Amino acid sequence: MTYIVTDNCIRCKYTDCVEVCPVDCFYEGENMLVIHPDECIDCGVCEPECPADAIRPDTEPGLEKWLEINKTYSEQWPVITVKKEHAADAKDFDGQKGKFEKYFSEKPGEGD
Ligand code: SF4
Ligand code: F3S
Repeated sequence: MTYIVTDNCIRCKYTDCVEVCPVDCFYEGENMLVIHPDECIDCGVCEPECPADAIRPDTEPGLEKWLEINKTYSEQWPVITVKKEHAADAKDFDGQKGKFEKYFSEKPGEGD
């Protein structure tokens, strides 16, 4: 198994999660992060750190699409290990439905 980042990270991107990961397996896109499933050691410490409640174990049902997204983009985006300032409007996006369809960006982030 692995932990994965899901829809509610998009445009919230608080980055608290990267500070606690012992193996630095978060990767940064323009408006969300993903976890590299082959690098994650399933420690679970990042899950309660996310203010947007966007991190889930992939054992939860219905997350197949998100597992694929985490796999795909963790191979393309730069690693991020240091928390950064989130966007001023991050809170406005917390809890919105269908953020993937509305806002997902394939563009890489800036990394550390
Ligand atoms: Fe990192 Fe542990 Fe979260 Fe996996 S579960 S991403 S190893 S903090
Ligand atoms: Fe995203 Fe939550 Fe991390 S919003 S960047 S998974 S702290």
